[in-house]
Amino acid sequence: MNVDNSAELARRIEALKREKKAVILAHYYTRPEVQAVADFLGDSLALSVQAQQVDARIILFAGVHFMAETAKVLCPDKKVLIPCPEAGCSLAESCDARDFAAFKARYPGYKVVSYVNTTVEVKALTDICCTSSNALKVVESLPADQPLIFAPDRNLGSYIQKLTGRQNMVIWDGACHVHEEFSLEKLLQLKRQHPDAKVVVHPECRAYIVEVADYVGSTAGILDYCGRSQAREFIVVTEAGILAEMQKRYPDKVFIPAPPDDETCGCNNCRYMKMVTLENICSCLENEAPEIQIDEEVRRAAERSIRNMIAIR
Ligand code: 13P
Repeated sequence: MNVDNSAELARRIEALKREKKAVILAHYYTRPEVQAVADFLGDSLALSVQAQQVDARIILFAGVHFMAETAKVLCPDKKVLIPCPEAGCSLAESCDARDFAAFKARYPGYKVVSYVNTTVEVKALTDICCTSSNALKVVESLPADQPLIFAPDRNLGSYIQKLTGRQNMVIWDGACHVHEEFSLEKLLQLKRQHPDAKVVVHPECRAYIVEVADYVGSTAGILDYCGRSQAREFIVVTEAGILAEMQKRYPDKVFIPAPPDDETCGCNNCRYMKMVTLENICSCLENEAPEIQIDEEVRRAAERSIRNMIAIR
């Protein structure tokens, strides 16, 4: 897409937003030009909270499918649009609702904590959702002797289990295709080249990557840490889309994206998040479609687990 075309699309999107009383919520992993047309930019927790507060007729979710579903669960009376419904999430896909129901049935008496990176049907089987921002708080809100199922991210689950020392926690075996791909060897090599750089890591990464971090947190947590820290250089071990916001907020600091194992695959970019483009946002607003639709019984059950999370934050 050339610059003129992109500027023209951005103008058209702004006009459609006004005309249709629409707002755009975008995740930090989307393309920089998509982030630029967003009314709210955030991590998954902030965007869930924001969704319920927006004064609009239409919410267009520039992110992956589960995020738009979460917005619809919280705002059933608003039209929630998703520019690219094929934009999925490897974590959500790793946890099929029917398989999960069978898994849950094997653990009577266990409470279910699920990451928001799940389908609405899995959220409906969940007691409390969490995001990477509040997973620790959510787990700590439950009595220490309460047995738990944590789904679907094995890396975030193990990290939280280590922090809390909880023994009675069963973890679903799912993972994020972006965060699992970072190479320890290449990360250590980067650290040697930039000895003063701080290493910031998303907790969806494998344990051996988390171990070398100076800071572990959600995308919003990482952004705050880079602002607070006295350091000038950071090695960023999460999806590379976040670099746009980092450079915008802290132009005097240097952000180095950590490479995946196979550097030719570009896997530190989430292919799903990058499926959202100015073109599909524009046509989605024009057509007011595709729209998220959820069965009302499932929506109500999912709403309870999301609201339980928001109450804890
Ligand atoms: P955040 O909670 O940091 O927004 O993580 C979102 C995500 O989907 C990571 O894969």
